[in-house]
Amino acid sequence: MATYDVIIIGGGPGGYVCAIRCAQLGLKTACVEGRGALGGTCLNVGCIPSKALLHATHELHEAEHNFAKMGLKGPAPKVDWKQMLAYKDEVIESNTKGIEFLFKKNKVDWLQGWGSIPEAGKVKVGDEVHEAKSIIIATGSEPAALPGVEIDEKTVVTSTGALELAKTPKKMVIIGAGVIGLELGSVYSRLGAEVTVIEFLDLVTPGMDGEVQKSFQRILKKQGMEFIMGAAVQKTEIAKGKAKVTYKLRKDDSEHEIEADAVLVATGRKPYTEGLGLEALGVEMLPRGQIKVGADWQTNVKGIYAIGDVIPGPMLAHKAEDEGMAVAEQIAGKHGHVNYGVIPGVIYTTPEVASVGKTEEQLKEEGRAYKVGKFPFMGNGRAKATFSTEGFVKILADKETDRILGCHIIGPSAGELIHEICVAMEFGAAAEDIALTCHAHPTYSEAVREAALACGDGPIHV
Ligand code: NAI
Repeated sequence: MATYDVIIIGGGPGGYVCAIRCAQLGLKTACVEGRGALGGTCLNVGCIPSKALLHATHELHEAEHNFAKMGLKGPAPKVDWKQMLAYKDEVIESNTKGIEFLFKKNKVDWLQGWGSIPEAGKVKVGDEVHEAKSIIIATGSEPAALPGVEIDEKTVVTSTGALELAKTPKKMVIIGAGVIGLELGSVYSRLGAEVTVIEFLDLVTPGMDGEVQKSFQRILKKQGMEFIMGAAVQKTEIAKGKAKVTYKLRKDDSEHEIEADAVLVATGRKPYTEGLGLEALGVEMLPRGQIKVGADWQTNVKGIYAIGDVIPGPMLAHKAEDEGMAVAEQIAGKHGHVNYGVIPGVIYTTPEVASVGKTEEQLKEEGRAYKVGKFPFMGNGRAKATFSTEGFVKILADKETDRILGCHIIGPSAGELIHEICVAMEFGAAAEDIALTCHAHPTYSEAVREAALACGDGPIHV
């Protein structure tokens, strides 16, 4: 039995970042992780592997559609699916091994096994019980089940199975037009699958700015994805390696069926807290299975904290990382803080979609006076050179003070561009501050400046 200042349960982005920060702040730290590798869902079966497949298939798309236009002639590359999966696995391994290295460098002990909390101040891993002054739950989330839909991870899969299908499907049905569905749908669509997305609501990616939602869906349709909107999936049936999906249209309650070689269920995730012993400890939970925490991420049981997907807020790796760092600082007697108003969200399709702060719909609902500055990538020289003129930058600023309230980008490198606005918002900047900042030419960033100019006297290139 070992005694620690802090034990973190879960080695995903929330947990491992928290562990490293705790160690850097001089706390004796251990991190419990039962998966064979560190990094959690994000590194092993989520963000990182999906980005590898998105990158590979984006390159394929470029070779098939844009190379010849640039004078790069020759047959388009053939897809070696096994090799593509091997490349993805190498990317995963180099990332997870990187975390192991960081743990050693920072003297964080990795307690291998699944952890539980038999009583406050104690963490059980296998047969061993360790003591800790503070325990942090960072156990993440798992795919939410859909009634009538049985997952076999071969034909009907979650995002985990979708990252290693035995072969690329000819026909694929995606249930849920959220982030996972549209990212992985893009992957298989670019690999030649006929992809049909079935979505309960009338717009894709719920919660995003309405204009972005419409534009995003239009672009994906143009790329070949089909959408059945306003439809609730009732059940799936698997027979002879194929699946039949039954859905009901909300407008008239009519029932329909569609067949596919693979079905991805991407209808949301739920907190993963099973086996931790929280009920016996009396840890207060919220109705949707999340752990209730205070402003310092402490639960109602003293010395037990929770961060990341197990508590309310967006289920995003970087939100968990921020909470991990902040709670470490709180425990070390500092003033850890997370600005929940400035957490970017990115969808890694082509074009990318990125947003931060308020949407136009939210501002309307709040009755706030705002102005919109918009600039299309069509007017950006760099985008013209790279076949990426689709999309726009939209900045929302306070009508009176010009303070930036939100930004929504659909276009090339949107996931990188958004951070200029995040920094600006952290500094309480006005759109004019961005407009007055010299931006290098030719860059995609100029579209951000032009959108800021559009909040004032007007953009130049449109
Ligand atoms: P999501 O919540 O983004 O989208 C789920 C969609 O499924 C919603 O549009 C919902 O209306 C629809 N839906 C629910 N029940 C349905 C039914 N019976 N029939 C048809 N449609 C139905 O969930 P998703 O995509 O599974 O992602 C889970 C979490 O993982 C999210 O919180 C997301 O932010 C996170 N994530 C983030 C990524 C990123 O930041 N790039 C990448 C992947 C996941």
